[in-house]
Amino acid sequence: METTMNFQEEVKQGIPSALPQPKPYPADANRAPKRKDILSVEEKQLAVRNALRYFPKEWHQELAVEFAQELKDFGRIYMYRFKPSYHMKSRSLTDYPAKCEQAAAIMLMVENNLDPAVAQHPEELITYGGNGAVFQNWAQYLLTMKYLSEMESDQTLHLYSGHPMGLFPSSIDAPRVVVTNGMMIPNYSQPDDWEKFNALGVTQYGQMTAGSFMYIGPQGIVHGTTITVMNAFRKVLNTGESPKGKIFLTAGLGGMSGAQPKAGNIANCVTVCAEVNANAATKRHQQGWVDELIDNMDTLIARVKEAQANEEVVSIAFIGNIVDVWESFYEKEIFIHLGSDQTSLHNPWSGGYYPVDISYEESNRLIREEPEVFKTKVQATLKRHADAVNKHTARGTYFFDYGNAFLLEASRAGGDVMAENGIDFKYPSYVQDILGPMCFDYGFGPFRWVCASGKSEDLDKTDAIAASVLKKIMQESPAEIQQQMQDNITWIEDAKQNKLVVGSQARILYADAQGRMEIAKAFNDAINNGEIGPVVLGRDHHDVSGTDSPFRETSNIYDGSRFTADMAIHNVIGDSFRGATWVSIHNGGGVGWGEVVNGGFGMLLDGSAAAEQRLKSMLLFDVNNGIARRSWARNEEANFAIKREMARTPKLKVTLANLVEDDILNNLSL
Ligand SMILES: NC(=O)c1ccc[n+]([C@@H]2O[C@H](COP(=O)([O-])OP(=O)(O)OC[C@H]3O[C@@H](n4cnc5c(N)ncnc54)[C@H](O)[C@@H]3O)[C@@H](O)[C@H]2O)c1
Repeated sequence: METTMNFQEEVKQGIPSALPQPKPYPADANRAPKRKDILSVEEKQLAVRNALRYFPKEWHQELAVEFAQELKDFGRIYMYRFKPSYHMKSRSLTDYPAKCEQAAAIMLMVENNLDPAVAQHPEELITYGGNGAVFQNWAQYLLTMKYLSEMESDQTLHLYSGHPMGLFPSSIDAPRVVVTNGMMIPNYSQPDDWEKFNALGVTQYGQMTAGSFMYIGPQGIVHGTTITVMNAFRKVLNTGESPKGKIFLTAGLGGMSGAQPKAGNIANCVTVCAEVNANAATKRHQQGWVDELIDNMDTLIARVKEAQANEEVVSIAFIGNIVDVWESFYEKEIFIHLGSDQTSLHNPWSGGYYPVDISYEESNRLIREEPEVFKTKVQATLKRHADAVNKHTARGTYFFDYGNAFLLEASRAGGDVMAENGIDFKYPSYVQDILGPMCFDYGFGPFRWVCASGKSEDLDKTDAIAASVLKKIMQESPAEIQQQMQDNITWIEDAKQNKLVVGSQARILYADAQGRMEIAKAFNDAINNGEIGPVVLGRDHHDVSGTDSPFRETSNIYDGSRFTADMAIHNVIGDSFRGATWVSIHNGGGVGWGEVVNGGFGMLLDGSAAAEQRLKSMLLFDVNNGIARRSWARNEEANFAIKREMARTPKLKVTLANLVEDDILNNLSL
């Protein structure tokens, strides 16, 4: 029986009362890759038994056969036939059937993460990163939306890796939703544990903003990459020297990596980005994310020399292997100012990184039929890749790891990337050298907001409000943060013309605690005055305080604590009782399952005095928790920032580190 219900009725119904017909798989959908067949026969029975818990007994016979088939065909049970019939997209807040506005705001954000224009594999409830899940299956989605439609403002919904455990009585000041994704007993956090327990239907990979309903499409990554490339050029150029005609060489034109050429253009350089998959490169070219497409090395070399000579700002996609580019540019003596890599080395053995000297098609055959041979070829390529990078850096190229595990995997493959002490890598990560000291340690991070009215006029108004708040703050800002302030004022003033909105009416910029609090307060005032509708605040988890990740967000922590996850846990607990509308904490993110703990929040601003109190209390903690930890780790910039914050906030008292003279330690007999 197909539904004739409207959107609101369908949401309120949850699991339908009559078994829906199976649905054909949409012809144009981008299907998630088949997952590993890892369960024993008994475990497969358990997976089907687990899935059937959501449904009445009378349906079990029919659904058991179907779910077993899904498990066989895709390695997971997605319950495709339960996907609702309405179009998945973020609507206006008032379109949702809800008893409290906060619940409606969460519904809006959930739907945005599953919008086919936004999500990578929408049928499998995956938002980005190949495995970043909002829910494990459609039953969880239906039940969650139903609970949200029933929720009152003194109840809290607890989500266990997508599974809605239930609505519990709480209080008006508590978060409306508490999300955990992939939290494991630490010993069970190997990549195959995700395969197994996700296939059983008891955990999921929430990535960062997928499982926390805070993804805003490619805008976030374009902004982050722009900030990184601009600041990297500042490290290598003389003051006042322009990046025009200077080369940024990198690889990958996929989901996130595809932002590199666009960011390079905004940063005013020549971007050369290699991509082995011709389809991915062509798609980015057609979308206008990269200016030129070249598939021949001689043509590339001639074009790059021309762009250097003419001091151009241009982005060029080279269809081919990145190792060939590094090697050929060395031979032809093309000087690379900045080098990096964004192939998917967090996933090296099943298509994240392609070996040199064999075709793309042959590589894919090897992955399927001769995985061990493929692995050997990847390792050999990584060694060559590292050698070629080393030759360029000897000539003066600045190379940084872009959070894709390039240095980690190159070292595991035996590549020459270790520093002399045998512990550290030869090259910094982008957080160690750039984002950490220049942004996170001062509290600058990816603050974002969504206009819940769904109106683009509201977004324009919030852009203008944010720009004027930042300009005002900048007049009084210390020299240490003037550059960050200016970069973000320029960004927000150009944001509309860069046309980065996909899905909800969202915006991102980097701001510190003061900036975030003052922008949020100005939004709340504008809502109160009726100038704009309600606004949802949030941030990427990739931020000052939200994420503990020893090779990425906390890679510039040098007191040994980068392998701990206390900061991220304190953050989520601290935010939850200071006024967040929802909070989330995840195992896994860009760098892999077991490699990172990351959390975030969402907060609805409705113009009320209570919202003003909440934003002040929570945003102050949400940023300064991480600055305090970074300062305790003896990071100079964070020490500066936390002392400034204590001067501004008398009730904030943070433990400060005493520095030890090296001589005292060097003279110890240990
Ligand atoms: N530091 C950050 O802020 C940040 C942000 C996003 C992503 N990342 C990391 O960057 C990586 C890429 O993310 P993505 O979403 O773009 O992944 P993706 O898989 O969509 O894209 C990677 C691309 O690299 C291409 N590629 C693989 N090997 C190649 C080779 N040898 N030469 C040329 N091209 C090759 C692939 O064909 C693919 O299109 C991931 O590891 C991710 O975790 C880091």
